[in-house]
Amino acid sequence: MSQQGSQQSQQQPEPIYLKDYKAPAYLIDHTDLRFELYEEETLVRATLKVRRNPARSGKSPLELHGHESLELCRLSIDGEVLSERDFSRDDELLHIADVPDEFVLECLTRIHPQLNTALEGLYKSDGMFCTQCEAEGFRRITFYPDRPDVMSVFRTTVEADRKLYPVLLSNGNPVESGSADDGRHFVTWDDPFPKPAYLFALVAGDLAVLEDSYITASGRKVKLQIYGENKDLDKLDHAMLSLKNAMRWDEEVYGREYDLDIYMIVAVDFFNMGAMENKGLNIFNTSCVLASPRTTTDAAFQRVEGVVAHEYFHNWSGNRVTCRDWFQLSLKEGFTVFRDSEFSADMNSRTVKRIEDVSMLRTAQFAEDAGPMAHPVRPESFIEISNFYTLTIYEKGAEVVRMLHTLLGAETFRKGSDLYFERHDGQAVTTDDFVQAMADASGRDFTQFKRWYSQAGTPRVEVSDSWDAAKGVYSLTLRQSCPATPGQTEKLPFHMPVAYGLVAQNGVELEAGVLELTDSEQTFTFDDLPEKPVPSLLRGFSAPVKLSYPYSDEQLLLLLKHDGDGFNRWDAGQRIAVNLMQQLIEDHLAGKALSLPDAMVDSWRAVLNDESLDPAMVAHLLRLPSEAYLAELAEVIQVDAIHAVREFLRKALAVALQPEWLEAYKRCTSDEPYSPDAESCARRALKNLALGYLLATDEDALLALAEEQFVDADNMTDQQAALSLVVHSGFREAGQRLLDDFHTRWHHEALVMNQWFAVQASDPWSGALERVKTLQEHPLFDAKNPNKLRSLVAAFCAQNPVSFHAQDGSGYRYLGDWIIKLNKKNPQIAARLLTPLTRWKRYPQAAQQLMTAELERILAQPELSKDVYEVVSKSLA
Ligand code: PHE
Ligand code: ZN
Repeated sequence: MSQQGSQQSQQQPEPIYLKDYKAPAYLIDHTDLRFELYEEETLVRATLKVRRNPARSGKSPLELHGHESLELCRLSIDGEVLSERDFSRDDELLHIADVPDEFVLECLTRIHPQLNTALEGLYKSDGMFCTQCEAEGFRRITFYPDRPDVMSVFRTTVEADRKLYPVLLSNGNPVESGSADDGRHFVTWDDPFPKPAYLFALVAGDLAVLEDSYITASGRKVKLQIYGENKDLDKLDHAMLSLKNAMRWDEEVYGREYDLDIYMIVAVDFFNMGAMENKGLNIFNTSCVLASPRTTTDAAFQRVEGVVAHEYFHNWSGNRVTCRDWFQLSLKEGFTVFRDSEFSADMNSRTVKRIEDVSMLRTAQFAEDAGPMAHPVRPESFIEISNFYTLTIYEKGAEVVRMLHTLLGAETFRKGSDLYFERHDGQAVTTDDFVQAMADASGRDFTQFKRWYSQAGTPRVEVSDSWDAAKGVYSLTLRQSCPATPGQTEKLPFHMPVAYGLVAQNGVELEAGVLELTDSEQTFTFDDLPEKPVPSLLRGFSAPVKLSYPYSDEQLLLLLKHDGDGFNRWDAGQRIAVNLMQQLIEDHLAGKALSLPDAMVDSWRAVLNDESLDPAMVAHLLRLPSEAYLAELAEVIQVDAIHAVREFLRKALAVALQPEWLEAYKRCTSDEPYSPDAESCARRALKNLALGYLLATDEDALLALAEEQFVDADNMTDQQAALSLVVHSGFREAGQRLLDDFHTRWHHEALVMNQWFAVQASDPWSGALERVKTLQEHPLFDAKNPNKLRSLVAAFCAQNPVSFHAQDGSGYRYLGDWIIKLNKKNPQIAARLLTPLTRWKRYPQAAQQLMTAELERILAQPELSKDVYEVVSKSLA
């Protein structure tokens, strides 16, 4: 056999398919783990009570997952040591051909957490040991059926040096502890709830703890502990408060109580994702748990609240009821995101939360749905599951659950969720099981609805109307379609709720309700109307679709003023701005001069001066649609034109409304001490939006205002806003001055410095790439730390479109170099960073060529990780 070239000689990873799912051949009733942690290596002793799965007929070999990095030291069955002849091992699996129906398997494995840069399995973060097992990290710890449908009761003993690692944690309740030889000690933990291996966790370190307690609805006392580094002990209160609020909320809204005697959260600085819901022992990225007014922005306070709640809610939606296989990932993630977004809506402003969520969905998830990695909420195949922790699984999955909630109403939805938790407690199930519980509780048929799980792509809904003045009959005709996505050319109609209102010319609402669209075309009529109404469609964004209706500017202005649905008021404003900006982009490309229509100035002035409005709402109404959103909407993305037009408009609106901006700025400035409550956040949001417009006028006096705010701020929201606004403004020298000042103030705070990196990486002015390359050499930058990579590399590639898409291809090359460097070291992060390159089809020809050349260069590298291989090869397909 001859091999030609490096590419052919590599074995390409194969996808695995949902349709090939088979129940496990063996079950593990009990898992006993003993960890001996040392500075060079860790020994893992696993004792598994194994039993043939009665649901599977015939005899099968025992197959255990085991990562290639595992050193197998000893393997025995019922005390008999196995010899090399009794088993075989390949890259991923250990096979034992001949095993009894029931037996005890003992396995001794040696691993090297200190060398683990992938941050999956057991690794070290700043001197402490921690684990990350979802989705398939447990196989880097020991040989095990590492699949979510194998649920086992775990007992874990952790042994380590007492001085270096005084705190030893695992899942469940601590049941034993004591001393061992050589200054070592151990703690044994027992978790009575059967769980899949992906929920296993272990932590060992020298940690400080904030402790509190919570009394559940039925009167049980639960100990709450949040662990972190000693220097961060003052940043844990907000997470603790959020946790208690989440526990109460889940009792009140879902009737779900916590089940163990202790709930622990540990903050770690090296983490690939946001946080992880390990049973009783959540592990959090510091960025999602630490918060203090001085160091943390309002947005980050809210993220902490949301993520703490999200992980807590997983205790039921994810842990007590888990996923049968990873194709069902959205079963736990979509439902849990829906739960946490409702929680945040209840804790803060519901409308504002909805606006934020939908903005993100429409920019980033819609872009994903239109790109080469588009996949259904329940994917049919994958090469590397880590690549499927996506906006589609999480956010679109949450929208699908939200639609069920809208179709059923809160009360019936609750019956459905009660039935789901009752029926499936302790089981590993599918999204079909979830929908079935909703169907059974309501008596409704959701067969068609389930297409939301199986069909990818963002549906379009085109709406037209007619008015019969003589009869007073208004009708709306809705047509739906869905663009092709990889592997799916034809789509069948979706079942979707379209919430609507009909608004009269004087702003009064004539009628409101929810239309159920099921056919590809459907007409709905409304009788006895006094006049032709303006339709307010898709209120609250009741379905994740692109809805179009030929609105005139007058109609949109009417909705902007009077729509009874806060979300649609905002959306009317967005539509006005988008229409204008799309026109200006065309003008810009045609070399025409740009101008700002008076009508726009008038309507903005009205909003800005309307003191009856929630300032957060005003801030959202007056923030121009982002460059990313305009890019998503464009046929061909003209990066520079989009940027130029948005900057033109910002400046023009700044100048035209300068007195009003100043007035709003002053109105929203307060002397009260910082508080992250919704009302204060709203004020700061509007104040800092106004500051941005004021700076856009390029007037020196207004720069002084920003610098003053920077210096005087008693909170990070105001200071960070001033910093990034000045750095991104035309005041280049002042920008550098503030950066230096900020560095002096905050160089000892890792999370704050992430902002310092990100502000520079996302600076749209020229020279950003050179600056980013210089910053890579900064002593605080660490290429092994995902938060740092996100602050610098991802911020440049994803938040600085003008620089990333520089016409000489330097931005693409820069990203390509990083992917190649990280491919083996941290494949998950490498694959995630790739996203901006995968969207090449949306850009003009010249950019397409440069981007695909870069993808080809990556694909030609030897030994691509599955993660990177899957994303690159699918992008080029
Ligand atoms: N399951 C985690 C969550 O959604 C996310 C996660 C996935 C974290 C994989 C780490 C690894 O809360
Ligand atoms: Zn989750």
